[in-house]
Amino acid sequence: MRGDRIWMATGNRHKYREAQEVMAEMGIALAHMEINRVEIQADDLADIAEYSLKQVRDDGRRIVVEDAGIFIDCYGGFPGPYSAYVLNTINLQGILKLMDSIRGRDASFQSVVAYRDGDCIRHFRGVVKGRIADCIRGTGGFGYDPIFIPDEGDGRTFGEMNAEEKNALSHRARAFRSLGEWLTDSE
Ligand code: IMP
Repeated sequence: MRGDRIWMATGNRHKYREAQEVMAEMGIALAHMEINRVEIQADDLADIAEYSLKQVRDDGRRIVVEDAGIFIDCYGGFPGPYSAYVLNTINLQGILKLMDSIRGRDASFQSVVAYRDGDCIRHFRGVVKGRIADCIRGTGGFGYDPIFIPDEGDGRTFGEMNAEEKNALSHRARAFRSLGEWLTDSE
């Protein structure tokens, strides 16, 4: 395994902490590069992540940028790539209102990690299936965590889990694990 660290360019410390723990479990050091990234609107998270990645100057360091979103089945995957905009405008209460009297509450979180090492750019995806809770539950995590119940869990929202519990199931942990496995296999 190459000794030098990988840098995660993000303005979101929660994301960094989650990713850093997953990579540490695989023996890979992930450092934090603070950026306010320019985010385009696009239908595919991979296009958004790769655009942001290309905004980071290539100075020889290995870089990752991650983009994530929540996809609600009964709304055709909305808000998906627009998750940040929707959360900022109508917040969690607004999402719950959209779900009023809706019985099919299936949703998924998706994450794409875009990785660059010189000319090599790769994408790694992670998905976790679950459903939208009836109300806000828990104070852990960030963003949509208090209204998302993963199918493989015990009925708690991500917001009611500690970091380790969320990382055992989350979209982000899955995407970073797949990056870690690829790095391990290719070295
Ligand atoms: P972005 O990847 O920073 O563009 O995230 C899009 C939106 O999804 C933001 O509002 C984030 O707060 C939210 N989000 C991203 N990842 C997570 C997560 O792991 N849990 C809860 N919300 C998330």
